[in-house]
Amino acid sequence: MSLLSIENVDYSYAKKTTFEKHVLKKLSLKIEPGSFIGIIGHTGSGKSTLIKILNGLLKPDAGTILYKGENIWSKNFDLRNFHLDVGVSFQYPEHQLFCDTVKKDIEYGLINKGVPKEVYESKIKKTLNIVGLSESYLEKSPFQLSGGEMRKVALAGTIVLDPEVLILDEPTAGLDPKSTQQIYDSLKTYQAQTNSSIIVVSHSMEDVSEYVTDIVALDDGQILLQGKPDQVFDNAEKLKKVGLDVPITTNILRLLAKDNPSVNTNIYRYEDTKLEISRLLKDAILK
Ligand SMILES: Nc1ncnc2c1ncn2[C@@H]1O[C@H](COP(=O)(O)OP(=O)(O)OP(=O)(O)O)[C@@H](O)[C@H]1O
Ligand SMILES: [Mg+2]
Repeated sequence: MSLLSIENVDYSYAKKTTFEKHVLKKLSLKIEPGSFIGIIGHTGSGKSTLIKILNGLLKPDAGTILYKGENIWSKNFDLRNFHLDVGVSFQYPEHQLFCDTVKKDIEYGLINKGVPKEVYESKIKKTLNIVGLSESYLEKSPFQLSGGEMRKVALAGTIVLDPEVLILDEPTAGLDPKSTQQIYDSLKTYQAQTNSSIIVVSHSMEDVSEYVTDIVALDDGQILLQGKPDQVFDNAEKLKKVGLDVPITTNILRLLAKDNPSVNTNIYRYEDTKLEISRLLKDAILK
């Protein structure tokens, strides 16, 4: 049994009006404990809608959503608790910060969840550690922080609730490479400590190839490709047809392979690319 799964889900906006838009089409997806899934897809392919379906913010027109084997839209299902178990961080979550201190912002969810006050402090400390912020931030105003720091505070507000599934819509959009790495490192740390499942939506092929274990490529509300990064990125033509691509390092290796058939073109991470280029350079020197 999967932790969270959706089966044959259909969803349309503005139903029964002239603006009706059929966005998700018979979509099925399984999320296993401890998985780290990257969702890619061109603008308007249905990624954010899928996220809202996954955490029960939108009710599908057809299909089922099961959490630990229970239908989340059945009468007796506790949707409120489900929203806490499946934490979502929407795009630009820093726009949702509204308290006058970082501490109050992170605490807000704990209060709502009814977590006993005695454990606030230890939970907040642990969470700050995961997102890489020191305790000196707690009394600062979120509005005096840099964009990357605000993003970390917002992430802390979601992580502090111990979600079993953590869903993030473009968590690193607009961040520099260092902050991007820090955010992904935080997610990996959280996952290592909790065996939670993480789902990120991203427009960056480089980021998904670097950090996730599984990729789901959406096209027009359907799954175009699904699998490990090397399986998905083995389909460059299919990806390009729908406005996606393979990571830039893979593209470079594939260009090099046109002159040198010994180049391994099924490489998509920076470290592996470095090793392959070093090997090619050594071979060239020894020739
Ligand atoms: N509230 C809404 N009412 C009507 N149509 C909507 C609504 N939200 C989204 N849509 C439409 O549904 C389609 C899918 O939108 P969605 O936000 O899921 O795409 P996305 O893959 O997340 O895109 P992006 O990469 O730009 O964030 C788009 O065509 C969009 O215009
Ligand atoms: Mg979106």
